[in-house]
Amino acid sequence: GTTRHYQFDIKLQNVTRLCHMKSMVTVNGKFPGPTVVAREGDRLLVKVTNHVQNNMSIHWHGIRQLRSGWADGPAYITQCPIQTGQSYLYNFTVIGQRGTLWWHAHISWLRSTVYGPLIILPKSNDSYPFAKPHKEVPIIFGEWFNSDPEAVISQALQTGGGPNVSDAYTINGLPGPLYNCSARDTFKLRVKPGKTYMLRLINAALNDELFFSIANHTVTVVDVDAVYVKPFDTETIIIAPGQTSNVLLKTKPSSPHATFMMLARPYVTGQGTFDNSTVAGILEYEPPLKMKKLPLLKPVLPALNDTAFVANFTSRLRSLGSAKFPANVPRKVDKKFFFTVGLGTNPCNHGNNGTTCQGPNGTMFAASINNISFTMPTTALLQAHYTGQSNGVADPNFPSYPKPTFNFTGTPPNNTMVMNGTKVVVLEYNTSVELVLQDTSILGAESHPLHLHGINFYVVGQGFGNFDPSNDPGRYNLVDPVERNTVGVPSGGWVAIRFRADNPGVWFMHCHLEVHTSWGLKMAWVVLDGHLPDQKLLPPPADLPKC
Ligand code: C2O
Repeated sequence: GTTRHYQFDIKLQNVTRLCHMKSMVTVNGKFPGPTVVAREGDRLLVKVTNHVQNNMSIHWHGIRQLRSGWADGPAYITQCPIQTGQSYLYNFTVIGQRGTLWWHAHISWLRSTVYGPLIILPKSNDSYPFAKPHKEVPIIFGEWFNSDPEAVISQALQTGGGPNVSDAYTINGLPGPLYNCSARDTFKLRVKPGKTYMLRLINAALNDELFFSIANHTVTVVDVDAVYVKPFDTETIIIAPGQTSNVLLKTKPSSPHATFMMLARPYVTGQGTFDNSTVAGILEYEPPLKMKKLPLLKPVLPALNDTAFVANFTSRLRSLGSAKFPANVPRKVDKKFFFTVGLGTNPCNHGNNGTTCQGPNGTMFAASINNISFTMPTTALLQAHYTGQSNGVADPNFPSYPKPTFNFTGTPPNNTMVMNGTKVVVLEYNTSVELVLQDTSILGAESHPLHLHGINFYVVGQGFGNFDPSNDPGRYNLVDPVERNTVGVPSGGWVAIRFRADNPGVWFMHCHLEVHTSWGLKMAWVVLDGHLPDQKLLPPPADLPKC
């Protein structure tokens, strides 16, 4: 592979959307940020220089970071933040991966403006397991706030309530014609008839899973999270924050007498407020037909809470499972874990003169895994681990099962209380892990897109209601389960994943709905070094930021 250099200057830029200008944190003044392109096997050197007052860190979402955890990016997990005036060189090699991933800020809510596509092409002597598309187009969904998202989340955390919702969704940074003042800020895809386009879809939205559809067109899903899948056709895509997917769009054989809208809007099952708006883009055929105005067709999206659609869509995702791209599912499991994931509340204990907390019944919102709401450390866990100074920083006793035993469906139990702590699971190198993630439904059933850093996993089973340990494992797919880095824990249900802890380091796992992460729905896995030299974490780079 070759070495590719990028320079990321973190700086403020005035950007106007919805007739509202704001100064926001960007990479190189661009919104969305620059597209990073590499080939499988290449080394990426991205020098990030921070010119703003906010602390910064950048995560390469979905990159395995084999032995190079120092470049992973989550602040206070693998590195201290890059402070004002400082630089850090992210140095990593793309090993055994090709497809669409993305990069984003990984500190507070800065990823709302600091994000962009990360495209990994196959090796130059390699090809796709499908015919080469005529063109490839990144389509990155985001959320726009008229106000400063940093203020939105800090206010929510101070008052204990839910954050203000965004003002628009965006496609490649553009809200589209269904919003005020946005007709000119519309993403347009111009296509030729009779060709295949590969859309590289990325959901960079902060807090919403999205349905996406193009009027009168079906697409073929060929990859999710930079792993090939058995191709299947669909009119609508469901994509959670953190997830990516390559889909093929076959255009009609000749220019139709119409223009087509593409729409994205949220899938929501929980209660509470959310942004129920729709971003639109336009699919236009060329050459333009010299006619009167063409009719504009709109797709029909599933209902807002169409969990059946989502379950059916995700059950169709299967690993390609070819000789070249096998599904290496662990058959034998060394360690089993059962994690409850969900929202809860904490007593309101801050506010010197009796602040009223704005969560349910005067409480403050919390989110947890096994009733533990993760507290961010003030130093980076990976450094503490590497230097043998984890004592007092991270508690290695993250429970394998939740303490309170209750039904996770039906009438919510009274015990919604969480404990705060920086607890981690420590795994021996190469441990094969089975993890069942159960949605608790305590504050209304809600889907949680769980993202694991540093390790891809196989989704071997999913279901609704309570996970049944005596029957459900018998139905696991151990032949061609989909491999990914972010999976939706179904609303009111469970999902089972398996992975091999073959990457030494400290790996963050969290809900990719940013507000849930802020409320504590996160934890970390510590994978110890193996015995062989190539099973050990590399030493930290000299410019690694200090806390
Ligand atoms: Cu895309 Cu830890 O995140």
